[in-house]
Amino acid sequence: MTLEPREFLAKMEQRMLFNDEDKAALQANADWGKQIAPEMTDHFYEFLNRDEEMANILNQKDGRMERLRATFTEWFSEMFTGMDDWGDAYAVRRWRIGLVHVKLGIGPQHVVPAMATVAREVDNKIKAEGKDDAVNDALSKICMIDLAFIEQAYVEVSSSAVQKETGWSEALFRRMIATGANSM
Ligand code: HEM
Repeated sequence: MTLEPREFLAKMEQRMLFNDEDKAALQANADWGKQIAPEMTDHFYEFLNRDEEMANILNQKDGRMERLRATFTEWFSEMFTGMDDWGDAYAVRRWRIGLVHVKLGIGPQHVVPAMATVAREVDNKIKAEGKDDAVNDALSKICMIDLAFIEQAYVEVSSSAVQKETGWSEALFRRMIATGANSM
């Protein structure tokens, strides 16, 4: 795997304009984030369970839904604390979350609407409570950074799996993708 999680996080912070003010706004609201996390979890799984295909994935195994509720609540709270101030632990955790979804075959078509739901529900909550826009801005940026980890995991895992299986070089692989895209 070529992706180095800490480097990727730094690049995404830069591209998303996620700065020290955003981090401060999130950390100042960490208790609030923890407090609303269970409610956001309810909205999230209520939304996913409305879709037949996603509901099937979520309820495929005994105990999965309970596990998911716990890990999602934790994930939500971590967006406010940054775990280790958005350091190695945060980056490695986000990368791992990406890999878990890739292994399960949960792709962009599932993850993008799911993250949009998080952003929408947070926005509703912030407006209802008359909270500062700065928290909303910062949260939408970190949500997109977390989403980028899951999406990038897809690309990295697929390309590295094909290269390993076939022995193709990265350059050849990229050329084949470009040729394939041209013919579509
Ligand atoms: C905003 C997007 C999402 C976030 C932030 C998220 C978060 C998480 C987290 C934190 C974990 C635990 C990872 C671990 O074990 O280390 C997880 C696992 C999982 N997620 Fe997601 N998820 C998202 C989208 C989805 C979607 C759209 C689906 C299904 C359609 C899904 C299904 C699953 C499943 C099946 C697992 C493994 C559960 C188990 O058996 O332990 N996730 N997710």
